Amino acid sequence: MKKRFYITTPLYYVNDVLHIGHAYCTVAVDVMARFRRLKGEEVFFLTGTDEHGQKIEQAAGLKGEEPQVWIDRIVSEDKKLWKRLNISYDDFIQTTQVRHKDTVQAIFNKLYEKGDIYKGKYEGWYCVPCETFCLEGQLVEGKCPECGRIAEKVEEESYFFKLSKYERLLLDYFDKNPHFMQPDYRRTEMINFVKNGLRDLSVSRLGTKWGIPVPFDVKHTIYVWFDALINYITAVDYLKEGEKFKKFWPADIHLVGKEIFKFHVIIWPAMLMALGLEIPRRVFGHGWWTVEGEKMSKSKGNVVDPHQIVDEFGVDAFRYFLLREVPFGLDGDFSRTSFINRYNADLANDLGNLLNRTLVMLEKYFDGIIPAPGTKEEIDNDLIDIIRKLPSNLETSLEKLEFHSAFSHIWEVIKFANKYIDSAAPWKLFKEDKERLKTVMYNLIEILRVVSLAVAPFIPYTSEKMEKQLGITHQDSFGAMAWGGIKPGNKIEIKEREPLFPRIVKPKE
Ligand code: MSP
Repeated sequence: MKKRFYITTPLYYVNDVLHIGHAYCTVAVDVMARFRRLKGEEVFFLTGTDEHGQKIEQAAGLKGEEPQVWIDRIVSEDKKLWKRLNISYDDFIQTTQVRHKDTVQAIFNKLYEKGDIYKGKYEGWYCVPCETFCLEGQLVEGKCPECGRIAEKVEEESYFFKLSKYERLLLDYFDKNPHFMQPDYRRTEMINFVKNGLRDLSVSRLGTKWGIPVPFDVKHTIYVWFDALINYITAVDYLKEGEKFKKFWPADIHLVGKEIFKFHVIIWPAMLMALGLEIPRRVFGHGWWTVEGEKMSKSKGNVVDPHQIVDEFGVDAFRYFLLREVPFGLDGDFSRTSFINRYNADLANDLGNLLNRTLVMLEKYFDGIIPAPGTKEEIDNDLIDIIRKLPSNLETSLEKLEFHSAFSHIWEVIKFANKYIDSAAPWKLFKEDKERLKTVMYNLIEILRVVSLAVAPFIPYTSEKMEKQLGITHQDSFGAMAWGGIKPGNKIEIKEREPLFPRIVKPKE
């Protein structure tokens, strides 16, 4: 039976269009999904939009639009971006869909009947941009401790979820599942947060109209986070409790930004415990991007539009930069200079040149026909050895979501191959040692074939372009990384060969 793999992005709010921070998480999930598919697993990759709550109601209101009209436009923009970024999601969930509304209401009913949801009174503060409740003592100079914006005072009847009841169970779970929260450095803060005592969570609002009504008390609207988290089980047909749910739940990885980690490792697991369901296997909290050293914000006018980057540098360069520049988990800074530096060094020089110079030499020395290997030297074994280790190195890095180190392993091969050319000097061998030249050229083509497969989850268009230029059929299994896949005797036709990554000439500073 095929192994299953269920991975999710957060649901993006539809108060505005998406920026590089949002693209970051989705690209990362896409890489994981593509990698697992290549390994032959049955993957379910879920993304979507979080469409309820005051924040959305206000955003639409400011433009004088009905929320649904506003939402439809943003969702279509989101989908356009995902298409452009070559995101291979299997399902796109929207929290205003009937399947989701039905699931949320059924769960609210179930937990109310069980006594895990009860009616009370909420007295405290609410931050609309974060859609979170905070207590008086948590405010910093009257402002939200998370985003620093003004919170509004709330005093109203509300339904509460008995989060406090799950304190002990959560701590036990954390204890028994040391890999549940990742990276490791986010664990301690969460454990301490629970140890300091959990308060029951207000899960309904009176003033908010744009949301799912509490089924048995419709003047109340279900709290947008309680609603949104449930999406992860709506999408696998929790209500039907059928094959899909059995197949894919619990999720393997929820990938989220660090500021919403707490919702995913505390509130969501407690809700699942209340429902008697299994807890997701892993939640990974990634870091944040700043731009030229500053937090991205509309008011500063420094929000980076992914379309602009793609227009200028191409999709794969964008995907590459996001995951190569910063170890996943840590914060990173996006700047034009670092983007262009990486592009030129890694993509144009290392990878692009390797392909180009190899194909030019094959054409020149063998009329484009791949030779059978001739005489061998010790260095060939070193090269084959690095290739042999590549699949397991990639697997280890990606298992830990260490994308930057996965890239290092691939680039180790690419750099080795470039050095191999320099030291073998095929231009000399052409005159002096044709038998040796055959081996060198065979090895180079074979390395490029392996690299075209290794980069496939990360930069899929580049992988396809490489396969085309190498004249090989599409490789759709990781097993094909084994050394020796290229067949001698095939002729690589030289059509118009576009450089993979044309070098960017930096404007003078
Ligand atoms: N709707 C909630 C998530 C609900 S999940 C059941 C939400 N939406 S969001 O649109 O505000 O954020 C979505 C994701 O984008 C978060 O994981 C957040 O960390 C990420 N990012 C938003 N800005 C970011 C950066 N500047 N850098 C990296 N990621 C950032 O929260």
